[in-house]
Amino acid sequence: MTLDGKHILVTAGPTHEPIDPVRVIANRSSGRQGFAIAAAAAAAGARVTLIAGPVTLPTPPGVHRIDVETAEQMADAVLRALPCDAAIMVAAVADWRVEPAANKLKKTRARLSLNFTPTRDILAELSASPQRPRLLIGFAAETEDVIANAVAKRERKGADWMVANDVSTGVMGGARNRVNLISAAGVEDWPEGSKEEIAARLVERIAGILS
Ligand code: CTP
Repeated sequence: MTLDGKHILVTAGPTHEPIDPVRVIANRSSGRQGFAIAAAAAAAGARVTLIAGPVTLPTPPGVHRIDVETAEQMADAVLRALPCDAAIMVAAVADWRVEPAANKLKKTRARLSLNFTPTRDILAELSASPQRPRLLIGFAAETEDVIANAVAKRERKGADWMVANDVSTGVMGGARNRVNLISAAGVEDWPEGSKEEIAARLVERIAGILS
């Protein structure tokens, strides 16, 4: 099965939300799972757009990569990259941002409080968009009640599939992963594997739907 002639959009990595000109709020995502999916999709013949937060990974062969920093920039880049046949939102997007201070916050302050506002939910926006891809896939990063939370998240965000990821045990930044694939048909338990193996299996399934 191939993805010849298909456009596949992948988001990967963390986002960085600035606090001031020198500081950011980040998370532990390495981008490895998303980059592996982009690589596998390109190897299967797709035209791949990879929208990457700040990571230190090389661009997989044949992949068109767009680097962004913040959730807002990632949302804009995703909407600009449409239309696509399938979107796989692997990025660990920040859920909140702060209005960054114009100058470096000095430690002479006795206390510092930050005022957080929610970021845009890129997956939910894409689901509601007139250009919604035929296959929309999210990754649910959970540390408790993994399946129940991911099942609810699939419905709430309007994704076709949600890949449930237990990130309580070193998955973020690690080389291996263990996931459940959640669809309207139910919950599949996938064997543990390298992030490349998980990517190959997911891309195989995507090709099965799109071809
Ligand atoms: N996501 C997104 N935009 C956001 C937050 C998340 O597109 N602002 C996407 C992620 O890329 C992922 C899915 O939504 O595919 C689930 O992300 P996750 O962090 O697990 O869920 P949240 O919506 O952040 O929910 P919570 O933090 O309550 O678990």
